[in-house]
Amino acid sequence: MTVRKKITLPVLRNRKKNNKKISWLTAYDFSTSRFADEAGIDMILVGDSGGMTMMGKSSTISVTMEDMIMFCTSVVKGSSHCFIVGDLPYMSYQVSDEDAVRNAGKLMSIGCDAVKLEGGIEMSSRITAITNAGIPVVSHLGLTPQSLSQMGGYKVQGKSLASFKKLLDDITAVENAGAVFHLLECVPEEVTGELYKHVKNPLYGIGSGRHVDGQLVISHDMLGLFVGDVDPKFVKKYADLSSIIKKAFINYKDDIDKNLFPEDKHLYSIEGDDLKKIQDYSNQFNK
Ligand code: KIV
Repeated sequence: MTVRKKITLPVLRNRKKNNKKISWLTAYDFSTSRFADEAGIDMILVGDSGGMTMMGKSSTISVTMEDMIMFCTSVVKGSSHCFIVGDLPYMSYQVSDEDAVRNAGKLMSIGCDAVKLEGGIEMSSRITAITNAGIPVVSHLGLTPQSLSQMGGYKVQGKSLASFKKLLDDITAVENAGAVFHLLECVPEEVTGELYKHVKNPLYGIGSGRHVDGQLVISHDMLGLFVGDVDPKFVKKYADLSSIIKKAFINYKDDIDKNLFPEDKHLYSIEGDDLKKIQDYSNQFNK
């Protein structure tokens, strides 16, 4: 029997060297984290997308450090093998290097293995500051949801030469600043392939095609659990849990309406003459 080891940065680098792709899923709670771990998933992102998937927010902008601390604490408890990346939420790192290091430290002290932040060249000093504090930083480029307003919505990135040049400058800058690996969101596959030629560290993708070292998928999307307006083309649906859950709730309500639940097998019983004593006492009560 092979003993399964915890995924670490050297393991991820080795996978890239050996051309072996990694599987990466989001999780925000204990049970999903446990299921991912037991399924042999390599990495978990505790994404600020939890604001949308778990809290019903329309974007990630109002997700706080407190929200992320709660999500990260639950996920860390659920997994002992996955490499866990904690997402730095909006305005937890944009203002200063000090904020960035302090907040990254909070996620690491919970038990995350790395932190992720969005942005390119302009985030170089943040990435270096966090790295110098001994914390691995993951860069997130392409479609960066914390800049949704600036981007004008969920749009495919890197579709012009100017946009490609910017992505190339950004990925080079964040790699030089110390980013241990990169996540590229919503970029055409051919453009990803061109960027891939210029990075040394692992490059993972979400909606960015196959020329990458592994894929990230939002668990709610692949499980058919997301309740909201965003329905990206790049998601493959592996289950339709919303229908399964709704059907179970409808069946339960039906049982209640028809007095079919609970049944005998769901009841606790009472031993000896204790029942008689209780009934006698109850009958005397308030007489
Ligand atoms: O928060 C998240 O899940 C993310 C993905 C959208 C890449 O950052």
